[in-house]
Amino acid sequence: MSADHPLTTTSEATLRMARLPAVDLTTHLGSLSLDNPVMTASGTAGYGHELANHLDPSELGAVVVKSLHVEPWVGNPGPRVHATPSGMVNSVGLQGPGVEAWLEHDLPGLIATGARVVASIWGRTVDEFARAAILLAEAPPEVIALEVNASCPNLEDRRALFAHSTSATTEVVEASAAACRPRWAKLSLNTPNLPDVAAAAAAAGAEAVTVANTVLAMVVDVEARRPLLGAGRGGLSGPAIRPAAVRAVYDTYEVLSDVPIIGVGGIASAQDAVQFLMAGATAVQIGTATFADPRAPVRILRDIGRWCDRRGVDRIAELIGVAHG
Ligand SMILES: Cc1cc2nc3c(=O)[nH]c(=O)nc-3n(C[C@H](O)[C@H](O)[C@H](O)COP(=O)(O)O)c2cc1C
Repeated sequence: MSADHPLTTTSEATLRMARLPAVDLTTHLGSLSLDNPVMTASGTAGYGHELANHLDPSELGAVVVKSLHVEPWVGNPGPRVHATPSGMVNSVGLQGPGVEAWLEHDLPGLIATGARVVASIWGRTVDEFARAAILLAEAPPEVIALEVNASCPNLEDRRALFAHSTSATTEVVEASAAACRPRWAKLSLNTPNLPDVAAAAAAAGAEAVTVANTVLAMVVDVEARRPLLGAGRGGLSGPAIRPAAVRAVYDTYEVLSDVPIIGVGGIASAQDAVQFLMAGATAVQIGTATFADPRAPVRILRDIGRWCDRRGVDRIAELIGVAHG
C-alpha cells in the first residue's frame, strides 16, 4: 500500500482479501473474468441481498439469483422441502416475483452490496424464455451474465426437461440472446446425453455450461401412503449428488474441454470444490450447503485459497482438468 492510498480509503472487502494467501484465484468464463471461482447456486440464496446479513456478497466471484419467470409465479404447494440422507429433496416450483418486480425491488439492494450479479431465467415454453430475456436487456451492467435454467419442465414436451433434449436446449439458449449479455446454460444430471446437450448449448451461444441442477427424486410418506412433497416429485441436492455431479463435469470436459464448465452439486468444503476443478470445472456454485451454514460460500472460497497455498499451487487455473491426466 502506498502513502497515496492510506489505509482508511481501503475497502473492508479489500482488507479481507489481503489476508487471504497470495494465490491467484482469477477464473475465466468465456468473455468474463471473475476474481475468484465461487458463486452461489440459483435458488439457494434468494435474490442475494438476504445473504448480505451473513456475508459480504462482493467477496464472491458472483451471486447467481433464484430463477425468474417472465411473470410472477406462485410455485408449488407445500411441503416443499424434505431432509434426506446427505441432502434434501425440494419442490419449491420456481416461485418468484417475475423479472420486472425483481429488477425494480430486489436487484438494487443486491447491487448496493457491490456484488457481481448473474440473473437466472426459466420458462415453460421457449417463448417464455424469450420474453424474460427481453425484459432483462434493461438490467444495469452489474448484471454480468444470464444463467438459462434449461433444467426445468418443458410444457410442450410433457415430463421432459428442456435440458434432456439437444434441440430444446438450443432453442432456449438462442431465445435468451435477447438479454444482450453472456449466457450460461444450466443443464441436467438426469440425461445420459449431457455432453451432447452441453455441446448444443455452446453451439447455440452459451459461453459456459452449469453442471448441474438437482436429480429427479421422490419421498413417499408411508403413513399417508402418498408422495410426501406437495407436488409429489422433487429434486435431490446436497452431498448425496456430489459424485454424480463430479462425474458429469468430468464427462463433459472430456468431450468439450474448450467450453467453460461451472460445477455444482453437493459442494460443502474446499476439497469438494477442488474435486470439481480437477474434473474440469472453471468455477463452482454452492447451494444446499448454504442452508446449514449461510456463510458457506465465503468459507469455502477462503479455504480454497488456503488449500492451494499449503500445496504450493500459485493459481487455481493450474488445477482445472488435471484429473484427466
Ligand atoms: C431449494 C432449492 C431451490 C432451487 N432453485 C433453483 C432455481 O430456482 N433455479 C436453478 O437453476 N436451480 C435451482 N436449484 C438447484 C441448485 O441451484 C443446484 O443446482 C442444486 O441444488 C445442486 O447443488 P447443491 O447440491 O449445492 O445444492 C435449487 C435447489 C434447491 C435446493
